Amino acid sequence: MNRIMKFNTVLHELRSAKNVGMIARSHLSFGGNFLILIGAKDKWNFKGGSSTYTRKINEAEKLIFFNDFESFLAWNKNATNIAVEISEHAKLSSEYKYPKNCNIILGNERTGLDHSIIEKCDQTVTIPQFGDIGSLNVAVSASIVLYELNKNRSQISKIEGAKFI
Ligand SMILES: C[S@@+](CC[C@H](N)C(=O)[O-])C[C@H]1O[C@@H](n2cnc3c(N)ncnc32)[C@H](O)[C@@H]1O
Repeated sequence: MNRIMKFNTVLHELRSAKNVGMIARSHLSFGGNFLILIGAKDKWNFKGGSSTYTRKINEAEKLIFFNDFESFLAWNKNATNIAVEISEHAKLSSEYKYPKNCNIILGNERTGLDHSIIEKCDQTVTIPQFGDIGSLNVAVSASIVLYELNKNRSQISKIEGAKFI
């Protein structure tokens, strides 16, 4: 099966440029379209090694900023909004069949996604955990979900040596 996934990665009020950088790398690796940052734009200064991939996305004009979630919702007309958060009412990400056109929305390092944001999304997915740590790092969570939404795609990139080309 070759399900071509079209997805944007949406980060709600993240605090760490390092986390954004790690997510940017996974977003590009898994074939994401726009990387969307919601919250104050002026706090970001994407310099240094951890921001290489964020700069790359910015140069490709695929980095978009919105002041708040409502502005993002007004911009997004067709894609399914999927909140990635720990919730008793969520689907398990490992079992969920991701739609072909979706926005993957993650919360910030300290407080996560507020309930008011989650209830405006079409679906919530939770990554199952098995140990006694309360939550995963946001960049790790993004990478797991981006892998899972692509896992039914056929391989399209060739591997040469230890790299995809
Ligand atoms: C570190 S968590 C937020 C803090 C968390 N609410 C707490 O109280 O420790 C940051 C973000 O990572 C994602 N996340 C972390 N663990 C997750 C899990 N098991 N399932 C789904 N999302 C997760 C969510 O998007 C969350 O908003």
